[in-house]
Amino acid sequence: MSDLVTLSIDGIELSVPEGTLVVDAAKKVGVEIPVFCYHPKLEPVGMCRMCLVAIGRPIFDRTTGEPVLDEDGIPKINFGPGLQTGCTVPVSEGMVVVTDSPAAVEARASVIEFLLSSHPLDCPICDKGGECPLQNLTMEYGKGESRMNYSDKLKLDKHVPLGDLIYLDRERCIQCARCIRFQDEVVDDPVIAFHNRGRRLEIVTLSEPGFDSYWSGNTTDICPVGALTTADFRFGARPWELNPVSTVSIHGPAGSNMTVSTRREARAGGRTVIKRALPRQNELVNEIWISDRDRFVYHFADAEDRLRQPMVRVDGRLQPATWDEALDLVAAKLQQHKSAAAWLAGDRLSNEDLFLFQKLFRKGLGSNNLDLADGRLAGGDIVAQVGFVSWPDASAPHRLGAGDAVLVVASDLHEEEPIWWLRAKQAAERGATLVVLNVRSTRLDEYASHVVRYQPGMALETVRQLLTAAKVETDSQEALTRAAAALIKAQNLVVFYGYEGLTYDETDELARLLGNLLLLKNEEGINHVGRANNGLIPVWPHNNTQGAWDMGVHPALGPGYKAVGAPGLDARGTYEAAQSGALKVLFVLGADPVGDGLMPSRGALDFLVVQELFLTATAELADVVLPAQSWAERDGTFTSGERRIQRYFPAIQPLGEARSDWQILSLLCERVGLGKPAVAASQIFNEISKSVPQYKGVDYRALARVEEQWPDVGHDDIYYGGTVYENRSGLGHQWPPMATEATEPFDISDRSSTTEAAGLQVIRPAALFTPGILINHTEVLESRLAVPTLLLNSAEAGRLELESGDRAAVSVRGHGFGALILVDDEIASGLALLRGVPYFEGRATAEINKIAALEKEFAA
Ligand code: SF4
Ligand code: FES
Repeated sequence: MSDLVTLSIDGIELSVPEGTLVVDAAKKVGVEIPVFCYHPKLEPVGMCRMCLVAIGRPIFDRTTGEPVLDEDGIPKINFGPGLQTGCTVPVSEGMVVVTDSPAAVEARASVIEFLLSSHPLDCPICDKGGECPLQNLTMEYGKGESRMNYSDKLKLDKHVPLGDLIYLDRERCIQCARCIRFQDEVVDDPVIAFHNRGRRLEIVTLSEPGFDSYWSGNTTDICPVGALTTADFRFGARPWELNPVSTVSIHGPAGSNMTVSTRREARAGGRTVIKRALPRQNELVNEIWISDRDRFVYHFADAEDRLRQPMVRVDGRLQPATWDEALDLVAAKLQQHKSAAAWLAGDRLSNEDLFLFQKLFRKGLGSNNLDLADGRLAGGDIVAQVGFVSWPDASAPHRLGAGDAVLVVASDLHEEEPIWWLRAKQAAERGATLVVLNVRSTRLDEYASHVVRYQPGMALETVRQLLTAAKVETDSQEALTRAAAALIKAQNLVVFYGYEGLTYDETDELARLLGNLLLLKNEEGINHVGRANNGLIPVWPHNNTQGAWDMGVHPALGPGYKAVGAPGLDARGTYEAAQSGALKVLFVLGADPVGDGLMPSRGALDFLVVQELFLTATAELADVVLPAQSWAERDGTFTSGERRIQRYFPAIQPLGEARSDWQILSLLCERVGLGKPAVAASQIFNEISKSVPQYKGVDYRALARVEEQWPDVGHDDIYYGGTVYENRSGLGHQWPPMATEATEPFDISDRSSTTEAAGLQVIRPAALFTPGILINHTEVLESRLAVPTLLLNSAEAGRLELESGDRAAVSVRGHGFGALILVDDEIASGLALLRGVPYFEGRATAEINKIAALEKEFAA
């Protein structure tokens, strides 16, 4: 704990840690020092002078070193000749700050007058009007009149696209550089900059495509004027018309806290629609940032082609039906076939949905044939033992730094969960040892102290060697041994693991190996389980994969990881059985195995039910289609990869006759004799807390618990932190991992990874904007969607007679893609990356043909 410094601000005495800036110290005692260029998450620059205050310090006797006292015995204070910027001056012992001295009041008014001299004053039509720091501080501290001649104002361009997602109004910019500094300091994407000097200074983009960053939307939150706006919100609504509704990311496994702003709209026939999504502060999860995927993807909820009515196949065609007709038919078919039925779910559904799903199948039909439709990453049971533990205090979170370590294996965090990438990067910048193990380079490598690159198929062997090296001290200078030595020395150790280039079974082994690494004791004789800032984080593919594991959506594990009697069919077995005719009925909940290439067709199934938002490729083949509500229309809980259970709330009215997934499943439970249907999601959550030991004692009220956070943002003083929302709906609850100091190492096999065949190995790297059912319904992201691209090094490209920019027909496990060729010598020989295509497991050999050459052949 740093030393405390005592000072007074406007007569209030306070003690704050050494190094605290005057502006932050004032904030802690509720004294307002207005700022424009300062932001509590950025380094201070002292550019705008809005925070000028009078600062005095005690006078010390040079001979004795003691403070000089006045006749009353009080230390004499020297205020010096001028005002100082509160945002750049750290507190010191005995300091006296006066924020409302006549000189400070005059200085602030002058700064505002100066800023307004080149501001368009278009507040009545500005998107920021109503939540604009410049407007608010002008009302509070401005003179109310100006000596400037309005007609002499500089006219600059408006509506300048910095990229597809962000627009700049050059006239409104007050040159505070918050946007540039955020891109540079926080997310290390320096893609915007100042250009020109003086009054002609303007923001420009340096990247092609423009503003090429996954974080661009955050600059619109922290811009203190309406100079930066998002493409989908600008001119869309006025802030005072908006109703904030708390929600949680529907995409990322970090569980980013967000707020959607809603408004009733004539254009939508009087319906309430989502107008924008902003971060909601949770210092333990996403602080005050969200990725552009989380910010923009909500548009799918209002898509025209959402399913609005149940449908039943009659005479070969899907026809509208009533809920009773559809549900009666489904319940009858399930009961008729029982063990010859199977159920596959997606991992974006809520805990309440997934719990009822397994209950209906296990209790109602006596079958364990249930699984995630698209299981990619195993090890949920290991995570339950050695999962990551958060710092308990959101008001002063202890962040990883010097003496700590972060290990990332088989994952590209920048593409899979940018929030975790940011966390790992910032830990490294604070001095933590970052070790990255992957088959290829990723955007984390540049911050890592140790990068270990393995050959395709060698991931498990590499981690085994790492574990052995960590157990046995050696003098080897090998990169892996040095990495192991750094990890075993760490005070705190966090391990992320993913599935890039690995089969599902391999990821199970990987989780065990990494679990054993965490169980090893460091030099001080303590291991890395069950302690804050230590543990395993699975980079799950979706927002609630963790919840699916917790709820028992697994053929062998019930709720709370309890082993079930005889394991049922897993997803792979289900797809095979559907084709062979061994399976009669399949219920697909929130997933599209046909569209995702996991199931070639409906095969020999007698009856296929799909519960979905859209008429997916699987739904088109179904006998009954049940329209579900999107996450924006209902409430529920998701559990993040850090096992944090978090609530989300209904933001808009349901579309058509769509019902929430838990309501539909509840009605089916009733039809198979499991009692009256639930009437609220909270009722199901209470049942979960009784059935899942890890959720014991947790209820919706506990999830709504909030506490003071630092920095203190999200109130009316938006000049300080930006338009990020205060968290009033809950920080969630992290369930504790089960392992203790005494836990025995996990069983591991000596199984080698399997290689499909010799030759070029193709793996699928993640891409943040990979096309998918939700993102494809977000027009504003269309230009960002990952284009199918095959990346390989020049030797491999030369062998295949390919060059960058060529197009090739790539066939992987029977699926063909037209892919752009990109030659990249960072990629190892024998490896090719196929990005922007639907998921395929592990490594594959691919047939690759240049399209132009094929066309020539056909022409001949
Ligand atoms: S665009 Fe906004 S955040 Fe960027 S420098 Fe201008 S006023 Fe500041
Ligand atoms: S100089 Fe302090 S806020 Fe700008």
